[in-house]
Parts: sequence; structure tokens; C-alpha cells
Amino acid sequence: QDTSRPPLEYVKGVPLIKSFAEGLGSLESFQARPDDLLISTYPKAGTTWISHILDMIYQGGDLEKCNRDPIFTRVSFLEFCVPGVPSGMETLQDIPAPRLIKTHLPLALLPQTVLEQKVKVVYVARNPKDVAVSYYHFYRMAKIHPEPGTWDSFLEKFMAGEVSYGFWYQHVREWWELSHTHPVLYLFYEDMKENPKREILKVLEFVGRSLPEETVDHIVQHTSFEEMKNNSLCNYSSVPLHIMDHSISPFMRKGIIGDWKTAFTVAQNERFDADYAEKMAGCNLTFHS
Ligand code: PPS
Repeated sequence: QDTSRPPLEYVKGVPLIKSFAEGLGSLESFQARPDDLLISTYPKAGTTWISHILDMIYQGGDLEKCNRDPIFTRVSFLEFCVPGVPSGMETLQDIPAPRLIKTHLPLALLPQTVLEQKVKVVYVARNPKDVAVSYYHFYRMAKIHPEPGTWDSFLEKFMAGEVSYGFWYQHVREWWELSHTHPVLYLFYEDMKENPKREILKVLEFVGRSLPEETVDHIVQHTSFEEMKNNSLCNYSSVPLHIMDHSISPFMRKGIIGDWKTAFTVAQNERFDADYAEKMAGCNLTFHS
């Protein structure tokens, strides 16, 4: 057992990385602005992908301007708090309006100011089986998480909501329900893979911008998995080793739909499906795999 990996800490019933939980109080001073854009996701749903897409849109498709900083500085990670590196609240102070802000927080922990200021939200959801596999490898390499244990035990924890940010099921459902009363563009990772241009056009319309078609094509090209994997400002390679160890598993791992088929046993898949049917009963969200 790696003693440098502290256990999760619960805040209002939600398990969080210990230092994030300890820093959450600083979010009380967060003041949302009506021109903020919030990127909300359960971890591993395509946060970095949509972040780079949105920054490219905000920069008019100019990759040079996007090269000003790594993605985690261009888009502030609201609740990020790890000793020795700038917190989300600190990076927020340096970014000019209109701001792009990322969060994985469930609604129970989301600062109310986001709702009061009617901040537009782009939410990305991803097939939970692929999320679970991606999250397992992320737990292994991002050492601010507890040890993931075996894949089988991690999958059990995922289903029980005993991973950082809690239940995937509740997260995708509550943000979906919020989209009925709040300006939320609800996207799916699988749709973005199937037709990135179509989804980028949806984002453009939602944020009230338009770009020439060739610029949209340029954004599609530079936000592909291959481009982002090889872009040191998108692939998290500059993160200190004690936070992320890419030699264990790269942050930009596979970027595909259906990788779960290589990880789930038949028994795990049956158990997951039965549990999923119970937890998602009455919800009209469907996930493709
Ligand atoms: S995090 O840590 O929650 O912010 O991670 P997040 O960025 O949400 O998710 C990481 C997974 O997204 C994949 N990814 C991409 N897929 C397709 N296209 C692009 N451009 C892209 N960028 C990142 C990344 O590879 C992780 O998925 P897995 O399945 O682990 O490869």
C-alpha cells in the first residue's frame, strides 16, 4: 500500500480526493460571471477534449493562441487543490473574461452562484463502462487518488459510488435533469467520436458564435485524439510526477469507444448491466457502446 496516497474524504456524502475536499471551502469566495462557460463532466468523459475544443473556438481557431498555456491553465479546474501547485481558484484569477471553467462536482457541491448567474454549461457524458476503465487507469497513474486495487475491486467501487466524485449514475442524471431548467448543452462522447464536426457546430451555436467552415474543419483536425495526444499542452505531460506518472499509463490513453470490451469479463458485464438497469430506472438517457 502506497502511504502517499491518502484515502478519499467525504463532503456532504460525496467522496473526494483528500486535498480537494480540504480546499473546497475556498470555493465559497467563487463569484460566477454571466459570461463564464462551465464545462461539467463526470471524470474521464472527455473533459480535456471539450476543453480544447472550447478554447480553440474562443481563440477563433488560432492554434498559436491556444499554445499560450497548458489546457489545465487555459481552462481553470474549479475545485483543483493540490499542495505545491496553483489551485483552480488561483488560476481563475489570471484568466481574462470570458472565462472557461471546468468542474466534476455533483450539484450538491456546486457553488450556487453558477445557477444564480445562469452560467451556460457544456456537459459531456460517456458510456459508463468506458468511463470505469478509463478511471481505473487514471487512478493508477494519477497518484492523488487512493490505490485502485485490482480492476475487479475498482469496478465494484465504481458501481458503489466509492470513487472520487461518487456515483456516475447520479451525476449524469442530475445534470440531465438540470438541462430542463438551466442552459446546459448536454453532449455525448460517443457522438463526438462519431461526428466531431456536427458536435462542434452544436457548441458554436450554444455559445453564440460562428466561424468559417474551414476554421471549424481546422478545429476538428487539431482536437482529434492523435493531435491532442502529441500536443504537450493538451496531454498533461508537464504535470509533476508526484501527481501524474505517465509511465504507468498515459493520460491520453486510447481515446476510443468500447475499450471496456477488452476489460470486462462476461460475469462483470452481466453484473454491471443488472445494476445499471436498477440505478438508471426511469431515466431516458441512452448510451451507445
Ligand atoms: S479528466 O481527468 O476527468 O479530465 O479526463 P477526461 O479528459 O475527462 O477523459 C480522458 C479520456 O478522454 C480521452 N480523450 C479523448 N478521446 C477522444 N478524442 C480526444 N481528442 C480525446 N482527448 C482525450 C482520453 O484518452 C481518456 O480516455 P481513455 O479511454 O482513457 O483513453
